[in-house]
Amino acid sequence: MPQLKRLLVTAGFLINFVAGQDTVVHQDTHFYGQSPPIYPSPEISGTGGWNEFSKAQALVLQMTLEEKTSLTGGYPNETSGCGGNIPAIARLGFPGMCLQDGPNGVRAADFVNGYPSGIHVGASWNKTLAYSQSHAIGGEFRRKGATVALGPPVLGPLGRIALGGRNWETYSNDPYLTGALGAEAVKGVQDNGVISCTKHFVGNEQEMHRNPRVDPDTNTTIEASSSNIDDRTMHEHYMWPFADAVHAGTASIMCAYERLNNSYSCHNSKLLNGLLKTELGFQGFVVSDWFAQHTGIASATAGLDMVMPYGYEFWGDNLTEAVRNGSISEGHINNMATRIMAAWYFSHQDDKSLPPVGVGLTANFEDRRAPTIDARDPNDAGLLMEGAIQGHVLVKNVKNSLPLKAPRMLSIYGYDAKLPDKSFSSGGYNGWALGLQSQNYRSIVCGFGPIGGQCPAFEPIAINGTMIGGGGSGAVTPVYMSSPFDALEKRARREGTQLFWDFNTENATSNINSNSDACLVFLNAASSEGVDRPSVRDSFSDSLVKNIAADCDNTIVTIHNAGVRLVDEWIEHPNVTAVIFAHLPGQDSGEAITKILYGDVSPSGKLPYSVPRNESDYGPVYAPVTHSGWDRYFPQDDFKEGVFTDYRAFDREGIDPRFEFGFGLTYTTFEYSNLKIENTVDSSTLTSYPMGPIIPGGHSDLWDTIATVTADVTNTGSVEAAEIAQLYVGIPMQDQPIRQLRGFDKVTVPPEETRTVEFKLRRRDLSTWDVHGQNWRLLVGSDYPVYVGASSRNLKLSANLSL
Ligand SMILES: *[C@@H]1O[C@H](CO)[C@@H](O)[C@H](O)[C@H]1NC(C)=O
Ligand SMILES: *[C@@H]1O[C@H](CO)[C@@H](O)[C@H](O)[C@H]1NC(C)=O
Ligand SMILES: *[C@@H]1O[C@H](CO)[C@@H](O)[C@H](O)[C@H]1NC(C)=O
Ligand SMILES: *[C@@H]1O[C@H](CO)[C@@H](O)[C@H](O)[C@H]1NC(C)=O
Ligand SMILES: *[C@@H]1O[C@H](CO)[C@@H](O)[C@H](O)[C@H]1NC(C)=O
Ligand SMILES: *[C@@H]1O[C@H](CO)[C@@H](O)[C@H](O)[C@H]1NC(C)=O
Ligand SMILES: *[C@@H]1O[C@H](CO)[C@@H](O)[C@H](O)[C@H]1NC(C)=O
Ligand SMILES: *[C@@H]1O[C@H](CO)[C@@H](O)[C@H](O)[C@H]1NC(C)=O
Ligand SMILES: *[C@@H]1O[C@H](CO)[C@@H](O)[C@H](O)[C@H]1NC(C)=O
Ligand SMILES: *[C@@H]1O[C@H](CO)[C@@H](O)[C@H](O)[C@H]1NC(C)=O
Repeated sequence: MPQLKRLLVTAGFLINFVAGQDTVVHQDTHFYGQSPPIYPSPEISGTGGWNEFSKAQALVLQMTLEEKTSLTGGYPNETSGCGGNIPAIARLGFPGMCLQDGPNGVRAADFVNGYPSGIHVGASWNKTLAYSQSHAIGGEFRRKGATVALGPPVLGPLGRIALGGRNWETYSNDPYLTGALGAEAVKGVQDNGVISCTKHFVGNEQEMHRNPRVDPDTNTTIEASSSNIDDRTMHEHYMWPFADAVHAGTASIMCAYERLNNSYSCHNSKLLNGLLKTELGFQGFVVSDWFAQHTGIASATAGLDMVMPYGYEFWGDNLTEAVRNGSISEGHINNMATRIMAAWYFSHQDDKSLPPVGVGLTANFEDRRAPTIDARDPNDAGLLMEGAIQGHVLVKNVKNSLPLKAPRMLSIYGYDAKLPDKSFSSGGYNGWALGLQSQNYRSIVCGFGPIGGQCPAFEPIAINGTMIGGGGSGAVTPVYMSSPFDALEKRARREGTQLFWDFNTENATSNINSNSDACLVFLNAASSEGVDRPSVRDSFSDSLVKNIAADCDNTIVTIHNAGVRLVDEWIEHPNVTAVIFAHLPGQDSGEAITKILYGDVSPSGKLPYSVPRNESDYGPVYAPVTHSGWDRYFPQDDFKEGVFTDYRAFDREGIDPRFEFGFGLTYTTFEYSNLKIENTVDSSTLTSYPMGPIIPGGHSDLWDTIATVTADVTNTGSVEAAEIAQLYVGIPMQDQPIRQLRGFDKVTVPPEETRTVEFKLRRRDLSTWDVHGQNWRLLVGSDYPVYVGASSRNLKLSANLSL
């Protein structure tokens, strides 16, 4: 079945998959998600550096209607290894387009690097890293002949639901942090010669019910769930990072699988014509997620420009026919084609020195007969290692446990310490060979998730082998994988350290040599596209830790976590002396954790989410989708909590998390002092609403800096380390979060030295969305409390900013 085989390496998951049963019924569910019609679809205006769109207009003018239509839909190309293909128009010198996954490296290809995942870069809080990593990834896509890199960045899901299967693909569940890193990622990719496709717009917050499917009991279609998001929450939270990406120039945006206010995201005119193309002034093209189009002409007029993977179902010849019989204007097709070609020119795809389209991506990737292009740049090796190091977050370190001090004997435990038994060449999931063989787990019997009926459904709580990334379209098959054990073994050999290990036993107690300087335990918490996580805890791994700790008084736990992982089962155990959330470091994972454990480098990550004490801390947002009453065939997901997710909710409700948002330790200590606030714009000239023209990202003056805040950070310990200083603002208005992140600055500080951190507050950072005025409103004449410190709950400095 060649087609099925090929589909294994395409972006979308074919069948619609439901994780688990819905058990939550909201008695008070009210139906409030409706989308108003917004037509016609805005034409490209050329604002914000897009003035070369006239080239696109001129080219489109030369195209026949059929040629223009051919730009708007993918087609099956049996010899291409690209996830999506747009045909060439040879007579006009247009070589076609190759769209390829994914965010952490080139998917379904060999001789590529596996970079740290979004959550890992999020934990680094390092804009330079976000830029450089995406720049490097962009280079690999370019050398493989890809035109469009599908992500980076991934900005949705934002991570509203702790169990969301794709939360690890994005940076953080805080929109400010995600937007700030996402903007850098867009620039990085596009500066290196490929189109960045920012995804998924918007409300794709869970995998359950992400696509329609037929209910086998009644043969009635159950539609995808509807993310019902009110206007203010949309602007202040879910759309926020997309505004950053559009402002940074993203040339394409992928619409999401879910319905938004009961209308499919890829057909929703308010979303695409209204919010994206009018309000945010987006100039590029909107491409559907794979198989996310469910209607024809209506999706075109609602603002969808390109459909993937195939145009022929609803568009193709039918779209041409629809123009001929007057159902849609040719002007509209011109608009779609111009946006696609403008993105192509904007990202310099007309550069004749680019490799042929799709040249390094081939359908024969799996059987390895095809010629291969090594897409890696040797100069990126240092960056891969730095990135791998920077997303580790140390959350506990007592009894002087870390760094290790020339250990004579180490005992190493846990399934995550070693390489997985098998790697898969076919399209990702390296490291995903097998789930843990335990009654707590359903085992994974093949490398893929529920695609095309090839594999049984699986629930990845943990993976039997070290985990360097998540599963699905964001999985990469890197050239190599460094496991913790392999890297520790190399170190031990050099330093003459005695090693003991046991990777498989759950209750390894009897095995511990009491002379061990430390017992290193490696766990993971897995996640994949296509299915939500079954749990934020894991009894097998918890008993592993508890059993080691019962017999080893220096137990150091490392968790490769693709999302929030609760640790209350053992975090206070006196023998658990150090704990690291290691996230998803990419191919250099083992070397990176070894450098951190030995203190070659101080850990410098902080949590890009909160770790609560218990599931119940999340309230209804833990499992919000309903579909058991009137909504049986129309699952509903009311975002009733508004912007109050994660720390915004915990702060408001007085919930004390185990580890708060922004928390992380290192091998030194820092002190904060000398907070200074400077208004950079004369307050008397400030208007309540922005007055500037619409540029990509919204009104131009939303992006103006109106205040600068500085503070001093002093390293009071004895080793060099980096500190992530954070700025939170309390917007003085009812129903606003007590504090929200509005700045961060990461600085390396040598011992006993001081560095000044700086935060620029833009008009948008201090504005709220005024639903009645339909604009961003600054509270001119108000005092804004500003807090600076080391985490969302460790804010030693504060002052008022008066506007
Ligand atoms: C979704 O519905 C809510 C409530 O009816 C409304 O405030 C919001 O503007 C709608 N958004 C979109 C994109 O349709
Ligand atoms: C199909 O893909 C191959 C390999 O990328 C390419 O050489 C060929 O031109 C494509 N076919 C068409 C019709 O564009
Ligand atoms: C659903 O449709 C299939 C195929 O048409 C048929 O075999 C089956 O009996 C139907 N099931 C129900 C419950 O109607
Ligand atoms: C046109 O649309 C119909 C469904 O409405 C579909 O069956 C057909 O394949 C389409 N044909 C072409 C050539 O696009
Ligand atoms: C025009 O063509 C489209 C696409 O084939 C079709 O769906 C529609 O019914 C046609 N309309 C008329 C009035 O023939
Ligand atoms: C992991 O896989 C190995 C086979 O290599 C097996 O022996 C072991 O029991 C598995 N571990 C767990 C915890 O399932
Ligand atoms: C391991 O120990 C836990 C208690 O910590 C126990 O519940 C579990 O059954 C034990 N597992 C095995 C395989 O002995
Ligand atoms: C801590 O480890 C020591 C062995 O080094 C053991 O004797 C002690 O019981 C452990 N403490 C706890 C609370 O399990
Ligand atoms: C933890 O959360 C679960 C699931 O919501 C709940 O059943 C349980 O009572 C909670 N436990 C505590 C100690 O709050
Ligand atoms: C941020 O990341 C870059 C790229 O990896 C690195 O060179 C730099 O040192 C990092 N900054 C800090 C303060 O850690």
